[in-house]
Amino acid sequence: GWHQYLSIAHIFQRKKHIMQLGMIGLGRMGGNMAKRIAAAGHEVVGFDRSPELDRTVSSLEEMVAALKTPRLAWVMVPAGEPTDSTINELAELLEPGDMIIDGGNSRYTDDVRHAAELEPKGIHFMDCGVSGGVWGINRGYALMVGGNKDDFETARPIFEALKPEGDSGLVLAGPVGGGHFAKMVHNGIEYADMQVIGEAYDILRRGLGMDAEEIGDVFAEWNKGDLDSYLIEITAEILHHKDAETGKPFVDVVVDHAGMKGTGTWTVQTALSLAVPVTGIAEAVFARGLSSEADLREEAQKQGFAGPNGELNLNSEEKKAFIEDIRQALYASKIVAYAQGFNEITTAAKEYGWDIDLAAVARIWRGGCIIRAKFLNRISEAFESGEANVSLLFAPYFKNAIETAEKSWRNVVAQAAINGLPTPAFASSLSYFD
Ligand code: 6PG
Repeated sequence: GWHQYLSIAHIFQRKKHIMQLGMIGLGRMGGNMAKRIAAAGHEVVGFDRSPELDRTVSSLEEMVAALKTPRLAWVMVPAGEPTDSTINELAELLEPGDMIIDGGNSRYTDDVRHAAELEPKGIHFMDCGVSGGVWGINRGYALMVGGNKDDFETARPIFEALKPEGDSGLVLAGPVGGGHFAKMVHNGIEYADMQVIGEAYDILRRGLGMDAEEIGDVFAEWNKGDLDSYLIEITAEILHHKDAETGKPFVDVVVDHAGMKGTGTWTVQTALSLAVPVTGIAEAVFARGLSSEADLREEAQKQGFAGPNGELNLNSEEKKAFIEDIRQALYASKIVAYAQGFNEITTAAKEYGWDIDLAAVARIWRGGCIIRAKFLNRISEAFESGEANVSLLFAPYFKNAIETAEKSWRNVVAQAAINGLPTPAFASSLSYFD
């Protein structure tokens, strides 16, 4: 059980500010986070509605009774109704001076509403976007916090316990809502990242006739250069992975529909209302929608429309050059997706009067989170120096990267269009650039 970590941690009696925290929601994320916080020496009182999980108390009332004032309650339940009802219940049980942190994937507008509802009761509120998935327990989580500075300092020991070691991984992104806003855009960029990887894969597979294993090798190679990132690394791993039952490449047996929990969609909805073009992210969300329309796709296949079959028919020399073109197209489209995502944050900050430190946001995305990538060092430098103030694309490093990629990028989009291979993110990013 995770409370065993408490006894281990107590043996060490570290000389630091030990806190007590109520963790509500002990699922995949909350359960692991509780363990990491406890391992750092803090006392965690864990509650989950499900008695099957390793909870210390069996109700919110008991949890509140077990915590000393001023209490700190971390809510880690699904966004929407479950988070609303948990916060409503806590609002009835907590006292003035207590604090709630919503660490789920809530929409930033919900945070603003929660803070406004809690304020008359004297209950403090912060939102915290958490990234890190199942590896977070060991490697730490990237935390994007929204709230005021005093509340941030009060809860700092808990944030410090959760974040990865080193200088990145924690940022007070802005006032209430700012943390989840940054996490929302992070997820939107994550969608775009995955879409451009999908487009590259499809061209390599159908256009160049390569098998999963060979494409896995290409991604592993790409991960040694500018594209070095977590998502490229695991793409190589997945493409090399064989299904145990059939012995076939896993990618050939996995169901070809992708679901989504909503943050990518919110990124686009918010961008629409702010009139910020986030075309790469939008295409990624639409592509996921299309992927789940299995019946439509099956019927389209049955209809057997006339047209090219996707094969590019290149000789080995041409093939080698085209693989490099695809790498460049992926890189350029990815830079555009980041530039667009950062524009959305800047525009929201202006609209809502938030003071958001973009360099600090870029810095925390370097480590711990799903979109961590080597080139985020360059992105944070571009914001720190002010070169990216108007757009990331104007920072010399990225301007140069795009200029280097441009010809290849155009070639890939053009060849794909001629031969019947879809490249919604590559093509829309190129149109945005043009
Ligand atoms: C993270 C991830 C994680 C998850 C998203 C997206 O940073 O740890 O972003 O939060 O991948 O919730 O989920 P969907 O792709 O299912 O919408």
